[in-house]
Amino acid sequence: MPSDKSIAHRAAILSALADGTSRLVDYPTSHDPQSTLSCLAQLGIEIYEEDEILVIEGKGLHGLESSDSDLDCGNSGTTMRLLCGALAGQTFSSILVGDKSLAQRDMERIADPLNAMGASIKLSENHSPIRISGGQTLSAIHYELPVASAQVKSAILLAGLYATGESTVTEFARSRDHTERMLGLDIVEFGERRVITVQGGMEIKARTWSIPRDFSAAAYFVVAALLLPDSALRIPRVGLNPTRAGLLDVLIAMGARIYIEDERVVGGEAVGDLVIFSSDLSGIELGGDVIPNIIDEIPILAIAALCAEGDTIIRDAGELRHKESDRIRNLVDGLTSIGADIEELEDGMIIHGSRLSGGMVDCHGDHRIAMSLAIAGLIADHQVSIRNADCAAVSFPGFWEALAELAYAETPES
Ligand code: S3P
Repeated sequence: MPSDKSIAHRAAILSALADGTSRLVDYPTSHDPQSTLSCLAQLGIEIYEEDEILVIEGKGLHGLESSDSDLDCGNSGTTMRLLCGALAGQTFSSILVGDKSLAQRDMERIADPLNAMGASIKLSENHSPIRISGGQTLSAIHYELPVASAQVKSAILLAGLYATGESTVTEFARSRDHTERMLGLDIVEFGERRVITVQGGMEIKARTWSIPRDFSAAAYFVVAALLLPDSALRIPRVGLNPTRAGLLDVLIAMGARIYIEDERVVGGEAVGDLVIFSSDLSGIELGGDVIPNIIDEIPILAIAALCAEGDTIIRDAGELRHKESDRIRNLVDGLTSIGADIEELEDGMIIHGSRLSGGMVDCHGDHRIAMSLAIAGLIADHQVSIRNADCAAVSFPGFWEALAELAYAETPES
């Protein structure tokens, strides 16, 4: 099981901006967090491995250096958006580029608030390439997030480190909170409304980061174990931050037999062992504040919903159309083509419990669609073939091998 991609990006960036040597235990080999490392290396940060631990020699808030070539963020929206925050207040200019999927994703959502702070960020029609002109003075901002987005929140908090004075970001639905946790920022909560404060010039301390296993990656195997008869599966040391692990509550409400053992806190993040048994599921209606906490897991939730008794209705999830691909459209089209009874909504979908026949399907280069379709393949009556499925390595190198090993394993005695 790979380590957590979201925590890894942040650990790498914060280590680069810290004064001194940081050690990152279990840094993932997935393509996205590797894109963050290669960009940081281009920005003059020394990164190496020592006894299987990644070492990053931080140079402080003002230690990054200009890159002589474009910063290639690959498929990774988190790399691009978080680095924009860190680069907006530098003395040098930068250009950030990405692959075909990333080049289609909306970057205005970060450029607007960063430019409001005094940055000079130019897009090409709301998208990358992103051109950041260095040498601007950033002022503090008090920003209310128009969408629940951890990437936008994090970009502003990172830029806030370079601004004069105290910046705040207010969110109305709680998106993943790794950045504020890892920076140890002050947070005031009024119900679901949270105000996060960052001080300009704040010093970041070098440290050891221990990165838990990625809940979003574990989710495919959680659902596979629930759906395949006679399954019993234990996944150790999975990150269970409540802003990430909302899928567990949803599945348990649907009837899933999932247990958490040895729950503990490692490096400020909740982790535990997941124990999952085959279960009969019922449909559920979802919307509102839970959506940001399950946003990356909705594709695999849709597969669980296909095996549930009755209908599952997912609303308020329009953000899914702005991920690595339009995940509502691609999921509905892909699953329909292999026999599912599923309806597209503007902001979600209605999934009718139904059998899958099988067939050839495209994942549109989207890792989460590819892995969700793979689990669909396990429960379909006939073979499911997925085109371009190697994109799973964006977040889960070794996914296909792990799946082959686990899906056909013997059930343990106990
Ligand atoms: C991420 C935030 C989420 C998520 C993405 C990773 C992050 O996007 O979908 O895969 O690490 O900050 P939002 O910015 O829409 O919350």
